[in-house]
Amino acid sequence: MLNIQQQVPLLKYNTLALPSTAEYFCKVASDNELQEALAWARKKQLPITLLGGGSNVVLASDLAGLVIHIAIPGIELVSEPNQAEKIIRVGAGEDWHQLVLHTLKQGWYGLENLSLIPGLAGAAPIQNIGAYGVELSDRFHSLEAIKLSSGEAITMTLDDCQFGYRDSFFKGLGRDQYVITAVNLKLSAKANLCLEYPALRQYLETKTLAGVTPPAITPKLVSDAVCAIRRSKLPDPTEIANAGSFFKNPVISSEQLETLKQKYPNLVNYEQAGGRKKLAAGWLVEQAGWKGITSSGVGVHDHQALVLVNYHGTGKDLLSLAGDIQASVLDKFGVSLEIEPRVYCK
Ligand code: FAD
Ligand code: EPU
Repeated sequence: MLNIQQQVPLLKYNTLALPSTAEYFCKVASDNELQEALAWARKKQLPITLLGGGSNVVLASDLAGLVIHIAIPGIELVSEPNQAEKIIRVGAGEDWHQLVLHTLKQGWYGLENLSLIPGLAGAAPIQNIGAYGVELSDRFHSLEAIKLSSGEAITMTLDDCQFGYRDSFFKGLGRDQYVITAVNLKLSAKANLCLEYPALRQYLETKTLAGVTPPAITPKLVSDAVCAIRRSKLPDPTEIANAGSFFKNPVISSEQLETLKQKYPNLVNYEQAGGRKKLAAGWLVEQAGWKGITSSGVGVHDHQALVLVNYHGTGKDLLSLAGDIQASVLDKFGVSLEIEPRVYCK
Protein backbone atom coordinates (compact mmCIF):
# COMPACT_ATOMS: atom_id res chain seq x y z
CA MET A 1 0.00 0.00 0.00
CA LEU A 2 1.52 3.31 -1.14
CA ASN A 3 2.21 5.75 1.68
CA ILE A 4 2.76 9.33 0.49
CA GLN A 5 4.07 11.59 3.24
CA GLN A 6 4.39 15.37 3.30
CA GLN A 7 7.38 17.57 4.22
CA VAL A 8 9.90 14.75 4.66
CA PRO A 9 13.51 15.63 5.65
CA LEU A 10 15.98 14.03 3.21
CA LEU A 11 19.08 14.21 5.43
CA LYS A 12 19.28 10.43 5.82
CA TYR A 13 18.46 9.86 2.14
CA ASN A 14 21.61 11.57 0.78
CA THR A 15 25.19 10.55 1.60
CA LEU A 16 26.32 14.21 1.69
CA ALA A 17 23.84 14.57 4.61
CA LEU A 18 22.58 17.85 3.18
CA PRO A 19 19.51 19.43 4.74
CA SER A 20 16.69 19.38 2.20
CA THR A 21 12.96 18.63 2.50
CA ALA A 22 10.72 16.79 0.04
CA GLU A 23 7.29 18.37 -0.41
CA TYR A 24 5.89 14.83 -0.87
CA PHE A 25 7.79 11.56 -0.43
CA CYS A 26 7.11 7.86 -0.93
CA LYS A 27 8.99 4.57 -1.19
CA VAL A 28 8.01 2.17 -3.96
CA ALA A 29 8.75 -1.55 -3.61
CA SER A 30 7.13 -2.84 -6.81
CA ASP A 31 6.28 -1.77 -10.38
CA ASN A 32 2.63 -1.48 -9.34
CA GLU A 33 3.42 0.90 -6.47
CA LEU A 34 5.60 2.91 -8.82
CA GLN A 35 2.76 3.21 -11.37
CA GLU A 36 0.44 4.28 -8.55
CA ALA A 37 2.87 6.98 -7.41
CA LEU A 38 3.40 8.24 -10.98
CA ALA A 39 -0.36 8.42 -11.60
CA TRP A 40 -0.85 10.33 -8.31
CA ALA A 41 1.81 12.91 -9.24
CA ARG A 42 0.49 13.20 -12.82
CA LYS A 43 -3.04 13.87 -11.55
CA LYS A 44 -1.77 16.61 -9.25
CA GLN A 45 0.62 17.91 -11.96
CA LEU A 46 3.57 17.64 -9.60
CA PRO A 47 7.23 17.33 -10.67
CA ILE A 48 8.90 14.01 -9.80
CA THR A 49 12.40 13.44 -8.42
CA LEU A 50 13.81 9.91 -8.25
CA LEU A 51 16.11 8.89 -5.46
CA GLY A 52 18.08 5.68 -5.01
CA GLY A 53 20.76 5.57 -2.32
CA GLY A 54 21.34 9.34 -2.62
CA SER A 55 25.10 8.84 -3.09
CA ASN A 56 25.42 10.94 -6.23
CA VAL A 57 23.18 13.94 -5.57
CA VAL A 58 23.79 17.42 -4.21
CA LEU A 59 20.54 18.59 -2.62
CA ALA A 60 21.15 22.34 -2.57
CA SER A 61 17.49 23.28 -2.03
CA ASP A 62 14.19 21.74 -0.97
CA LEU A 63 12.52 19.50 -3.56
CA ALA A 64 9.08 20.53 -4.78
CA GLY A 65 6.64 17.82 -5.87
CA LEU A 66 6.97 14.08 -5.25
CA VAL A 67 10.28 12.42 -4.37
CA ILE A 68 10.11 8.69 -5.16
CA HIS A 69 12.62 6.47 -3.36
CA ILE A 70 13.12 3.34 -5.47
CA ALA A 71 13.10 0.16 -3.36
CA ILE A 72 12.15 -2.50 -5.95
CA PRO A 73 13.93 -5.75 -4.93
CA GLY A 74 14.97 -8.94 -6.73
CA ILE A 75 18.00 -10.76 -8.16
CA GLU A 76 17.31 -13.68 -10.53
CA LEU A 77 19.28 -15.71 -13.01
CA VAL A 78 17.45 -15.53 -16.33
CA SER A 79 19.85 -17.53 -18.53
CA GLU A 80 19.79 -21.36 -18.50
CA PRO A 81 21.61 -22.64 -15.36
CA ASN A 82 24.07 -24.77 -17.41
CA GLN A 83 25.11 -21.87 -19.69
CA ALA A 84 28.51 -20.24 -19.06
CA GLU A 85 27.06 -16.81 -19.80
CA LYS A 86 25.04 -15.66 -16.79
CA ILE A 87 22.34 -13.11 -17.52
CA ILE A 88 20.92 -11.75 -14.28
CA ARG A 89 17.94 -9.48 -13.74
CA VAL A 90 18.36 -7.06 -10.85
CA GLY A 91 15.59 -4.94 -9.31
CA ALA A 92 16.43 -1.22 -9.26
CA GLY A 93 16.24 -1.11 -5.45
CA GLU A 94 18.98 -3.69 -4.81
CA ASP A 95 22.08 -2.37 -3.03
CA TRP A 96 24.92 -2.38 -5.57
CA HIS A 97 27.71 -3.69 -3.33
CA GLN A 98 25.52 -6.43 -1.83
CA LEU A 99 24.69 -7.43 -5.41
CA VAL A 100 28.41 -7.68 -6.24
CA LEU A 101 29.02 -9.89 -3.18
CA HIS A 102 26.00 -12.07 -4.03
CA THR A 103 27.17 -12.63 -7.63
CA LEU A 104 30.66 -13.61 -6.44
CA LYS A 105 29.15 -16.16 -4.01
CA GLN A 106 27.07 -17.66 -6.83
CA GLY A 107 30.13 -17.93 -9.10
CA TRP A 108 28.80 -15.31 -11.52
CA TYR A 109 31.87 -13.24 -12.34
CA GLY A 110 32.49 -9.81 -13.84
CA LEU A 111 31.48 -7.26 -11.22
CA GLU A 112 34.50 -7.69 -8.92
CA ASN A 113 36.21 -4.40 -9.93
CA LEU A 114 32.98 -2.54 -9.16
CA SER A 115 32.96 -3.61 -5.49
CA LEU A 116 32.02 -1.15 -2.74
CA ILE A 117 30.44 1.50 -4.98
CA PRO A 118 27.60 2.95 -2.90
CA GLY A 119 24.05 3.29 -4.17
CA LEU A 120 21.40 1.10 -5.77
CA ALA A 121 21.39 -0.93 -8.98
CA GLY A 122 18.79 1.29 -10.69
CA ALA A 123 21.10 4.30 -10.63
CA ALA A 124 24.13 2.42 -11.99
CA PRO A 125 23.25 3.13 -15.67
CA ILE A 126 22.64 6.86 -15.05
CA GLN A 127 26.34 7.73 -14.96
CA ASN A 128 27.57 4.33 -16.18
CA ILE A 129 29.35 3.62 -12.90
CA GLY A 130 32.99 2.70 -13.24
CA ALA A 131 36.02 1.87 -11.15
CA TYR A 132 39.38 0.11 -11.33
CA GLY A 133 39.28 -0.46 -15.09
CA VAL A 134 35.66 -1.67 -15.54
CA GLU A 135 32.47 0.23 -16.34
CA LEU A 136 28.86 -0.93 -16.02
CA SER A 137 28.63 -0.81 -19.85
CA ASP A 138 31.19 -3.68 -20.00
CA ARG A 139 28.74 -5.95 -18.16
CA PHE A 140 25.44 -4.48 -19.33
CA HIS A 141 22.80 -6.47 -21.23
CA SER A 142 19.65 -4.28 -21.15
CA LEU A 143 17.37 -2.41 -18.78
CA GLU A 144 13.69 -2.05 -18.07
CA ALA A 145 12.25 1.40 -17.53
CA ILE A 146 8.98 3.26 -17.26
CA LYS A 147 8.33 6.53 -19.02
CA LEU A 148 7.43 9.13 -16.40
CA SER A 149 4.99 11.05 -18.57
CA SER A 150 2.85 8.08 -19.67
CA GLY A 151 3.67 5.09 -17.47
CA GLU A 152 4.67 3.10 -20.58
CA ALA A 153 7.08 0.21 -19.90
CA ILE A 154 10.07 -0.11 -22.25
CA THR A 155 13.27 -2.14 -22.63
CA MET A 156 16.55 -0.49 -23.62
CA THR A 157 19.63 -2.16 -25.10
CA LEU A 158 23.31 -1.25 -24.72
CA ASP A 159 23.17 0.96 -27.84
CA ASP A 160 20.01 2.74 -26.66
CA CYS A 161 21.74 3.76 -23.42
CA GLN A 162 24.60 5.65 -25.18
CA PHE A 163 27.06 4.96 -22.38
CA GLY A 164 30.26 6.99 -22.09
CA TYR A 165 32.65 7.95 -19.30
CA ARG A 166 30.32 8.90 -16.40
CA ASP A 167 27.67 9.51 -19.07
CA SER A 168 24.55 7.99 -20.64
CA PHE A 169 21.35 8.79 -22.52
CA PHE A 170 19.80 9.43 -19.07
CA LYS A 171 22.08 12.45 -18.57
CA GLY A 172 21.27 13.82 -22.02
CA LEU A 173 18.01 13.57 -23.98
CA GLY A 174 16.60 11.04 -21.51
CA ARG A 175 17.22 13.20 -18.44
CA ASP A 176 14.28 13.05 -15.99
CA GLN A 177 12.17 11.14 -18.55
CA TYR A 178 12.41 7.54 -17.29
CA VAL A 179 12.53 5.51 -14.12
CA ILE A 180 14.71 2.43 -14.36
CA THR A 181 12.98 -0.53 -12.71
CA ALA A 182 15.43 -3.37 -13.46
CA VAL A 183 18.92 -3.83 -14.91
CA ASN A 184 19.96 -6.99 -16.77
CA LEU A 185 23.64 -7.82 -16.53
CA LYS A 186 25.82 -10.16 -18.58
CA LEU A 187 28.19 -12.06 -16.27
CA SER A 188 30.14 -15.27 -16.68
CA ALA A 189 30.78 -18.55 -14.88
CA LYS A 190 34.37 -18.22 -16.17
CA ALA A 191 36.58 -15.61 -14.48
CA ASN A 192 38.04 -13.06 -16.89
CA LEU A 193 40.02 -10.75 -14.67
CA CYS A 194 40.77 -7.08 -15.42
CA LEU A 195 43.94 -6.19 -13.54
CA GLU A 196 45.31 -3.32 -15.65
CA TYR A 197 44.31 -0.40 -13.41
CA PRO A 198 47.67 0.81 -11.98
CA ALA A 199 46.63 1.00 -8.29
CA LEU A 200 45.01 -2.47 -8.45
CA ARG A 201 47.97 -4.08 -10.23
CA GLN A 202 50.45 -2.56 -7.77
CA TYR A 203 48.36 -3.63 -4.76
CA LEU A 204 48.09 -7.24 -5.95
CA GLU A 205 51.81 -7.40 -6.90
CA THR A 206 52.87 -6.10 -3.49
CA LYS A 207 50.59 -8.54 -1.62
CA THR A 208 51.67 -11.49 -3.80
CA LEU A 209 55.38 -10.73 -3.28
CA ALA A 210 54.82 -10.43 0.46
CA GLY A 211 53.12 -13.87 0.43
CA VAL A 212 49.82 -12.40 1.70
CA THR A 213 48.03 -13.25 -1.52
CA PRO A 214 48.37 -16.62 -3.31
CA PRO A 215 49.80 -16.39 -6.84
CA ALA A 216 46.46 -17.61 -8.33
CA ILE A 217 44.28 -14.52 -8.29
CA THR A 218 40.53 -15.12 -8.04
CA PRO A 219 37.57 -12.73 -8.61
CA LYS A 220 36.96 -12.72 -4.83
CA LEU A 221 40.57 -11.66 -4.25
CA VAL A 222 40.17 -8.84 -6.79
CA SER A 223 37.00 -7.72 -5.00
CA ASP A 224 38.81 -7.77 -1.63
CA ALA A 225 41.72 -5.80 -3.13
CA VAL A 226 39.40 -3.17 -4.63
CA CYS A 227 37.62 -2.84 -1.26
CA ALA A 228 40.96 -2.41 0.56
CA ILE A 229 42.21 0.24 -1.90
CA ARG A 230 38.91 2.12 -1.75
CA ARG A 231 38.84 2.05 2.08
CA SER A 232 42.40 3.43 2.18
CA LYS A 233 41.49 6.61 0.32
CA LEU A 234 37.76 7.17 0.05
CA PRO A 235 35.90 8.36 3.16
CA ASP A 236 33.04 6.11 4.33
CA PRO A 237 29.88 8.24 3.91
CA THR A 238 28.51 6.88 7.20
CA GLU A 239 31.49 8.52 8.95
CA ILE A 240 32.23 11.57 6.78
CA ALA A 241 29.41 12.75 4.52
CA ASN A 242 30.44 12.76 0.82
CA ALA A 243 29.30 11.84 -2.69
CA GLY A 244 32.53 10.25 -3.99
CA SER A 245 34.33 12.16 -6.75
CA PHE A 246 32.86 15.65 -6.95
CA PHE A 247 34.34 16.36 -10.39
CA LYS A 248 34.79 14.23 -13.51
CA ASN A 249 38.32 13.61 -14.72
CA PRO A 250 38.69 16.10 -17.61
CA VAL A 251 39.47 14.90 -21.12
CA ILE A 252 41.73 17.18 -23.20
CA SER A 253 43.50 17.14 -26.58
CA SER A 254 47.03 15.71 -26.92
CA GLU A 255 48.23 19.22 -27.97
CA GLN A 256 46.91 20.76 -24.75
CA LEU A 257 48.54 17.92 -22.79
CA GLU A 258 51.94 18.56 -24.39
CA THR A 259 51.74 22.28 -23.55
CA LEU A 260 50.77 21.52 -19.95
CA LYS A 261 53.50 18.89 -19.55
CA GLN A 262 56.18 21.45 -20.40
CA LYS A 263 55.20 23.36 -17.28
CA TYR A 264 54.06 20.36 -15.17
CA PRO A 265 56.18 17.31 -16.14
CA ASN A 266 54.52 15.16 -13.42
CA LEU A 267 51.00 15.76 -14.73
CA VAL A 268 49.04 12.48 -14.32
CA ASN A 269 47.32 11.47 -17.57
CA TYR A 270 45.79 8.44 -19.30
CA GLU A 271 45.23 7.50 -22.95
CA GLN A 272 41.64 7.82 -24.19
CA ALA A 273 39.99 6.52 -27.33
CA GLY A 274 40.59 8.80 -30.34
CA GLY A 275 43.99 10.02 -29.11
CA ARG A 276 42.55 12.29 -26.42
CA LYS A 277 43.96 12.34 -22.88
CA LYS A 278 42.27 12.09 -19.52
CA LEU A 279 43.74 14.04 -16.61
CA ALA A 280 43.41 13.12 -12.93
CA ALA A 281 41.20 15.86 -11.49
CA GLY A 282 42.36 14.85 -7.97
CA TRP A 283 45.94 15.68 -8.93
CA LEU A 284 44.91 19.07 -10.38
CA VAL A 285 42.87 19.96 -7.26
CA GLU A 286 45.71 18.88 -4.97
CA GLN A 287 48.32 20.85 -6.95
CA ALA A 288 46.07 23.91 -6.82
CA GLY A 289 46.43 23.69 -3.02
CA TRP A 290 42.96 22.53 -1.97
CA LYS A 291 43.63 19.13 -0.40
CA GLY A 292 42.51 19.00 3.25
CA ILE A 293 41.08 22.52 3.46
CA THR A 294 37.81 23.25 5.29
CA SER A 295 35.55 26.28 4.94
CA SER A 296 31.98 27.02 6.15
CA GLY A 297 31.35 23.46 7.36
CA VAL A 298 32.47 21.80 4.12
CA GLY A 299 35.88 20.77 2.81
CA VAL A 300 38.22 18.77 0.58
CA HIS A 301 39.11 15.28 1.85
CA ASP A 302 42.70 14.97 3.06
CA HIS A 303 43.37 11.57 1.35
CA GLN A 304 41.57 12.23 -1.96
CA ALA A 305 41.31 15.80 -3.23
CA LEU A 306 38.56 14.83 -5.69
CA VAL A 307 36.16 14.14 -2.81
CA LEU A 308 34.38 17.09 -1.22
CA VAL A 309 33.04 16.43 2.28
CA ASN A 310 30.29 17.92 4.38
CA TYR A 311 30.83 18.40 8.12
CA HIS A 312 27.82 20.60 8.91
CA GLY A 313 27.32 22.80 5.84
CA THR A 314 24.59 23.20 3.25
CA GLY A 315 24.41 22.37 -0.44
CA LYS A 316 25.01 26.04 -1.24
CA ASP A 317 28.23 26.03 0.90
CA LEU A 318 29.40 22.98 -1.01
CA LEU A 319 28.62 24.51 -4.43
CA SER A 320 30.41 27.69 -3.41
CA LEU A 321 33.55 25.71 -2.49
CA ALA A 322 33.25 23.71 -5.73
CA GLY A 323 33.03 26.98 -7.69
CA ASP A 324 36.20 28.31 -6.02
CA ILE A 325 38.05 25.07 -6.82
CA GLN A 326 36.88 25.16 -10.46
CA ALA A 327 38.04 28.79 -10.82
CA SER A 328 41.46 28.10 -9.32
CA VAL A 329 42.09 24.96 -11.44
CA LEU A 330 41.02 26.87 -14.56
CA ASP A 331 43.32 29.73 -13.62
CA LYS A 332 46.35 27.51 -12.90
CA PHE A 333 45.99 24.84 -15.63
CA GLY A 334 43.47 26.27 -18.12
CA VAL A 335 41.32 23.14 -17.54
CA SER A 336 37.57 23.19 -16.73
CA LEU A 337 36.26 20.76 -14.13
CA GLU A 338 32.71 19.47 -14.52
CA ILE A 339 30.70 18.53 -11.44
CA GLU A 340 29.97 14.77 -11.40
CA PRO A 341 26.94 14.30 -9.07
CA ARG A 342 23.49 15.57 -10.04
CA VAL A 343 22.88 19.01 -8.52
CA TYR A 344 19.35 19.92 -7.38
CA CYS A 345 19.16 23.67 -6.78
CA LYS A 346 16.22 26.07 -7.14
P1 FAD B 1 21.20 8.60 -6.39
O1 FAD B 1 22.28 9.39 -5.79
O2 FAD B 1 20.03 8.27 -5.52
O3 FAD B 1 20.75 9.15 -7.75
C1 FAD B 1 21.67 9.62 -8.71
C2 FAD B 1 20.90 10.09 -9.94
O4 FAD B 1 20.25 8.97 -10.54
C3 FAD B 1 19.77 11.06 -9.59
O5 FAD B 1 19.67 12.01 -10.63
C4 FAD B 1 18.51 10.19 -9.55
O6 FAD B 1 17.34 10.89 -9.89
C5 FAD B 1 18.83 9.15 -10.60
N1 FAD B 1 18.22 7.83 -10.31
C6 FAD B 1 18.41 7.08 -9.20
N2 FAD B 1 17.74 5.94 -9.30
C7 FAD B 1 17.10 5.96 -10.50
C8 FAD B 1 16.24 5.05 -11.18
N3 FAD B 1 15.90 3.87 -10.67
N4 FAD B 1 15.77 5.41 -12.41
C9 FAD B 1 16.11 6.61 -12.97
N5 FAD B 1 16.91 7.50 -12.36
C10 FAD B 1 17.40 7.18 -11.14
N6 FAD B 1 30.51 6.23 -8.81
C11 FAD B 1 31.25 5.59 -9.73
O7 FAD B 1 30.88 5.54 -10.91
N7 FAD B 1 32.42 4.99 -9.39
C12 FAD B 1 32.90 4.99 -8.14
O8 FAD B 1 33.96 4.43 -7.89
C13 FAD B 1 32.14 5.66 -7.14
N8 FAD B 1 32.58 5.72 -5.87
C14 FAD B 1 31.86 6.38 -4.93
C15 FAD B 1 32.34 6.41 -3.62
C16 FAD B 1 31.64 7.05 -2.62
C17 FAD B 1 32.18 7.08 -1.22
C18 FAD B 1 30.39 7.67 -2.93
C19 FAD B 1 29.59 8.34 -1.84
C20 FAD B 1 29.91 7.65 -4.24
C21 FAD B 1 30.64 7.01 -5.26
N9 FAD B 1 30.19 6.96 -6.58
C22 FAD B 1 30.92 6.28 -7.53
C23 FAD B 1 28.95 7.63 -6.99
C24 FAD B 1 27.67 6.79 -6.73
O9 FAD B 1 27.92 5.74 -5.84
C25 FAD B 1 27.09 6.22 -8.01
O10 FAD B 1 26.81 7.25 -8.93
C26 FAD B 1 25.80 5.42 -7.78
O11 FAD B 1 25.41 4.75 -8.96
C27 FAD B 1 24.64 6.30 -7.31
O12 FAD B 1 23.58 5.45 -6.89
P2 FAD B 1 22.42 5.98 -5.97
O13 FAD B 1 21.40 4.89 -5.88
O14 FAD B 1 22.95 6.47 -4.69
O15 FAD B 1 21.85 7.16 -6.85
N1 EPU C 1 45.64 11.88 -7.16
C1 EPU C 1 46.39 12.87 -6.60
N2 EPU C 1 45.88 13.54 -5.52
C2 EPU C 1 44.67 13.24 -5.00
C3 EPU C 1 43.88 12.24 -5.60
C4 EPU C 1 44.40 11.56 -6.70
O1 EPU C 1 47.50 13.18 -7.04
O2 EPU C 1 44.29 13.88 -4.00
C5 EPU C 1 46.21 11.12 -8.29
C6 EPU C 1 46.56 9.69 -7.85
O3 EPU C 1 47.83 9.63 -7.28
C7 EPU C 1 46.48 8.91 -9.15
C8 EPU C 1 45.40 9.66 -9.92
O4 EPU C 1 45.23 10.94 -9.30
O5 EPU C 1 47.68 9.01 -9.86
C9 EPU C 1 44.05 8.92 -9.96
O6 EPU C 1 43.60 8.71 -8.62
P1 EPU C 1 42.62 7.50 -8.24
O7 EPU C 1 43.18 6.20 -8.72
O8 EPU C 1 42.30 7.63 -6.80
O9 EPU C 1 41.33 7.72 -9.12
P2 EPU C 1 40.51 9.04 -9.49
O10 EPU C 1 40.79 9.36 -10.92
O11 EPU C 1 40.73 10.11 -8.49
C10 EPU C 1 38.50 7.71 -10.42
C11 EPU C 1 37.00 7.77 -10.30
C12 EPU C 1 36.55 7.08 -9.02
C13 EPU C 1 37.00 5.62 -9.08
C14 EPU C 1 38.53 5.57 -9.21
C15 EPU C 1 39.02 4.17 -9.43
C16 EPU C 1 36.25 9.70 -11.51
C17 EPU C 1 35.71 11.08 -11.44
N3 EPU C 1 36.55 9.13 -10.34
O12 EPU C 1 39.02 8.47 -9.35
O13 EPU C 1 35.12 7.12 -8.98
O14 EPU C 1 36.61 4.93 -7.92
O15 EPU C 1 38.93 6.35 -10.37
O16 EPU C 1 38.69 3.76 -10.72
O17 EPU C 1 36.37 9.16 -12.60
C18 EPU C 1 33.26 8.42 -8.26
O18 EPU C 1 32.93 8.51 -9.45
O19 EPU C 1 32.57 8.93 -7.35
C19 EPU C 1 34.50 7.73 -7.90
C20 EPU C 1 34.95 7.63 -6.65
